Parts: sequence; C-alpha cells; structure tokens
Amino acid sequence: MYQLSPSILAADFNCLGEQIRQVEEAGVEWLHIDVMDGAFVPSISFGMPVIASIRKNSSLFFDVHLMIEEPGRYIEEFKKSGADMLTVHAEACKHLDSTLREIRKAGMKVGVAINPGTPVSQLECVLDLVDMVLIMTVNPGYGGQSYIAKMDDKIKELRAIINEKGLDIDIEVDGGISAKNVAHVKECGANVFVAGSAVFNGDIASSAKDILEAMEA
Ligand code: DX5
Ligand code: ZN
Repeated sequence: MYQLSPSILAADFNCLGEQIRQVEEAGVEWLHIDVMDGAFVPSISFGMPVIASIRKNSSLFFDVHLMIEEPGRYIEEFKKSGADMLTVHAEACKHLDSTLREIRKAGMKVGVAINPGTPVSQLECVLDLVDMVLIMTVNPGYGGQSYIAKMDDKIKELRAIINEKGLDIDIEVDGGISAKNVAHVKECGANVFVAGSAVFNGDIASSAKDILEAMEA
C-alpha cells in the first residue's frame, strides 16, 4: 500500500476546506496534520479546534503528526477532534511505551516518529506497538526544507528490520518530498509520503496528481 499524505501546514488557511477538497478530488486518501507546540519545535501551528473543524467536511484518513512535548497529555482530545492516527515523537515522550499503548486503547492507529539525529535502534523495543514509523527527513518545525540525503540509510535499515521480523508496519517519510524524489524514497523502502509545499504551493490538483503518478510508477 502506497499513500500520499499532503501536509496542510503549507495550505492557505483562508480557504483550507476548499484546498482539502482539491487534494481529495485528485485521488488522495490521507491528510497529514502537523501540530506544533513551540516547545518540542520552535514554531506553533494549530491544534484540536482546526482538526475538529476540517473533520466535518472530509472523509480523508487524518494522519496527525504531533510535534509536541509529552503528547500523552492530549490523546483523548485528539481522538475527539477526529484523528484517525496519532504519531508521537520518541524524543518527546518520557514513557514512550505507555503513550503508544494509550493511543491504541483510545481507538486510533499508532505512529512513532524519529528526528534526523535519532537512530532507528531507539525504536527496537516499541516496534510491536506501532502501525507506522515516521522517519523525519528534515529537522521538524518548518515546511519547505530540503530532504537530508543521509536519511536514505535509515529508511533502508528500518525496512530491512521490518522485513526480517515479518512486521506489518508502514514507513512514512516527511520533509522535502516531491514528485522528483518520491520514487527514490520508495526505492529505499518508504511507503507513505508526506508532501507539504510540493502539493500546496502551486496548482494543488495537478501537483498532487504528479506526485501520485511518480509514487505509483
Ligand atoms: C515539518 C512537518 C512536515 C512539513 C513538510 O516539521 O512535519 O510535515 O509540513 O513540509 P515539506 O513537504 O514542505 O517539506
Ligand atoms: Zn509532519
């Protein structure tokens, strides 16, 4: 299963609902929703009220990426706002195992993310608790950055571990992904591709279609 997950961080919030409708019409099934708290990452984006609001008019799979300290504090609230999957950063959780279990208990899919400076080995003890691992391919906090080439090796390493253990875990890549490099990261072993600026900075429908085509080729 390959998925494009457009990140609304790069959308025009003045007409967010309309822009989400455009990606949906282009054939996208997932939506990437970046929540930032100004502590785990320098910037602040948006939170539950925005998610609850767009939930009313979208049946996309809400892939919520929490770049916040101790996200375990807000699991129920994100569930209520309409998240289908919660991805938390390994670096942001004092009790990662318990936070991941609580997301599952709340009835959502479970994701764990690692920053470019965090090794794959950090996830060894929690792989059996997650549906997806998000490998950050830029340092989190902002859209529009360039893909860090060194992340190729981390994607390959994780895919090898997943295959060897026979696990059913998606690998999502986030940061600097576009129609130009999506085939390359897919080749490395990723199967869920986040794209913010590459989808929303320009003609949304045709940009999304270009990435979908390159992804499925
Ligand atoms: C960065 C966010 C990303 C961001 C990606 O911290 O997690 O999801 O929106 O933006 P692009 O695709 O522009 O690199
Ligand atoms: Zn993200």
